[in-house]
Amino acid sequence: MLKQVRIKKVVEENYRIKNFVLDEKIESIPGQFAMLWLPRLNERPMCIVNSDPLTFTVAKIGPFTEAVHRLKEGDPIWYRGPYGHGFEIKGKNVLLVGGGYGVAAMFDLARSATKKGLKPTLIIAAKTKKDIIYEYKLKKAKIKTMVATEDGSAGSESLATNAAEELIKSNTFDCIYSAGPEKMMVALGEIADKYKIPAQFSTERFMKCGGLLLCGHCEINGVLVCKDGPVFDWKTLKNLPDFGRYHRNQAAQKIPI
Ligand SMILES: Cc1cc2nc3c(=O)[nH]c(=O)nc-3n(C[C@H](O)[C@H](O)[C@H](O)COP(=O)(O)OP(=O)(O)OC[C@H]3O[C@@H](n4cnc5c(N)ncnc54)[C@H](O)[C@@H]3O)c2cc1C
Ligand code: FES
Repeated sequence: MLKQVRIKKVVEENYRIKNFVLDEKIESIPGQFAMLWLPRLNERPMCIVNSDPLTFTVAKIGPFTEAVHRLKEGDPIWYRGPYGHGFEIKGKNVLLVGGGYGVAAMFDLARSATKKGLKPTLIIAAKTKKDIIYEYKLKKAKIKTMVATEDGSAGSESLATNAAEELIKSNTFDCIYSAGPEKMMVALGEIADKYKIPAQFSTERFMKCGGLLLCGHCEINGVLVCKDGPVFDWKTLKNLPDFGRYHRNQAAQKIPI
């Protein structure tokens, strides 16, 4: 059931990503998603990056997200949710790796982990300095953070996976969590296997019915991202041949990643 709420605050994170803080609070766990709806544009899945106040971190990539980016404080927006299976917080020392807007989901998870007495270390993975988001929030929340940029314009000049492996060599982590590009998560999964560390990753597929189990559009080799995911154990994902290789477009055609 869609619910109409007002936008309380809009925060520009970088040239293509904004936070939308809504005048609403819900019960959810990190990694779950909601469907956002706008008149004439249908609806799209977005990760819940804070439940109180309900917040979404949206990257502008196409018609729906461009329309969301045009919204101002006080404007109405509609949502339904939460949906899906979120992260299971395990262990004591945990490594979190966020790429793109996935950093927002990792921040939410890091905050929950800290509240439960865990010690999270978060890697912000970005192409360049201008792609970094949430660094100021992590600093304020006193979460141990490392920045890795591909061109070295901020933090260390390295891929997230190299940065993660360096940290793993000198620390003991009980679990690895990630949200970001699928190829990055596949590479992280291989590192997790090498060091025998369990891992959980947040996945994305185009969603038509978004959690209503009517369309099957979000299927990856027999699992439904909207119901069984979006968060899966790496041991499940590594047995799905399409993970990291193909997604489906709006016409359900398989497209190489
Ligand atoms: C569970 C889940 C959580 C998500 N969380 C966030 C979030 O927190 N913030 C955010 O900015 N975005 C998130 N997304 C992605 C977001 O739903 C898409 O960016 C959005 O649907 C794009 O709509 P659009 O009309 O702007 O662009 P479109 O025109 O629909 O898409 C532009 C391009 O992106 C591709 N695309 C669209 N959606 C997906 C997808 N799900 N997977 C792979 N390719 C896709 C299209 O095929 C097209 O090539 C999430 C997706 C899922 C499934
Ligand atoms: S989006 Fe329709 S079944 Fe998952």
